[in-house]
Amino acid sequence: MTKITAAITAVGAYIPEYRLTNKELETLVDTNDEWITTRTGIKERRILKDASLGTSYMAIKAAEDILKKKNLDPKEIDMIIVATATPDMSVAATAAYVASEIGATNAFGYDLAAACSSFLYGMSTAASYIASGRYKKVLVIGADKMSSIVDYTDRTTCIIFGDGAGAALFEPNEEGLGLQDEYLRSDGVGRNFLRIEAGGSLNPATHETVDKKQHFIKQDGKTVFKYAVSSMADACVNVMKRNDLTNEDVDWLVAHQANKRIIDATANRMGLKDENKVLINIEKYGNTTSATIPLVLFDYEKQFKKGDTLVFASFGGGFTWGSIYLKWAYNSN
Ligand code: UT7
Repeated sequence: MTKITAAITAVGAYIPEYRLTNKELETLVDTNDEWITTRTGIKERRILKDASLGTSYMAIKAAEDILKKKNLDPKEIDMIIVATATPDMSVAATAAYVASEIGATNAFGYDLAAACSSFLYGMSTAASYIASGRYKKVLVIGADKMSSIVDYTDRTTCIIFGDGAGAALFEPNEEGLGLQDEYLRSDGVGRNFLRIEAGGSLNPATHETVDKKQHFIKQDGKTVFKYAVSSMADACVNVMKRNDLTNEDVDWLVAHQANKRIIDATANRMGLKDENKVLINIEKYGNTTSATIPLVLFDYEKQFKKGDTLVFASFGGGFTWGSIYLKWAYNSN
């Protein structure tokens, strides 16, 4: 019997129009373009300005992009995972709403919350369902409206995050392409260093939590940075080693875009000498949390060739991190 693997067969995206530039941030907090650029690599990020719209708006647009490109009947979709740290609301899964809005009436869906690693974990889930033979079309959408949880008076976070959505369709492959291996990990120590303090069951919302600004994202950037650099690089090197991949074998590094310095350090540990293999778009979008990885796929899709070796990497709140080795399954154009 032919082994079934799970391949990405299409990518889609939605990016809000409004560009929040480093220059504009200079008018909001004590910062400057030079500091932001050299410390993070970010020049601007997109913001979903309409306060009446949530993460689902962007997730739906990214999903519709794929439906259009593939000329796909939404009724064929079996499952939808919305990877997000900013669901429309708690309890009611954003994925269920997205499925209904795009007409995926034969699908079930749920949200996957693992902060910046949500999309990577979602890839793993989708691929497992496909490889098991249980489902044939699984849509993984990474979407976050980070502007809904960012304090625009806090210069240590507001310069980093942006809004956006990206999506990937997973389907069975019988040529051995698609997801090959993964190394995923988590460590609860992370909740001391990157979190939203209130609004969950541990510390429910009160007038006081609002007054104390405890519903905004906060991080100890330096500590998170250190963990991110070592964990992301370790995960990638691990995946390379156990699959006998040399630096020459890796065609593309698709990393979570949190800080260009973290990505460069990871590429360095992997021995990637050709900087063109290290895919970067952080300058345009900032850190869109669950959306960074599919947005990289979307921006660079045309450069990927069938059979190319992609190594994915992420690190995020929790902490959650990991690496995935995937063989690209199609040529664009
Ligand atoms: O995606 C989820 C995971 N998150 C991450 O991976 C984020 C990881 N962390 C980082 O990317 C970096 O730590 C930051 C970009 C958040 C900060 O960069 P850093 O090089 O670690 O800066 P720092 O926090 O050590 O601050 C250095 C200096 C400080 O001033 P002093 O104490 O040296 O005088 C800060 O007060 O820079 C100051 N600073 C700023 N200056 C201008 C902090 N934020 C800013 C700012 N503009 N926005």
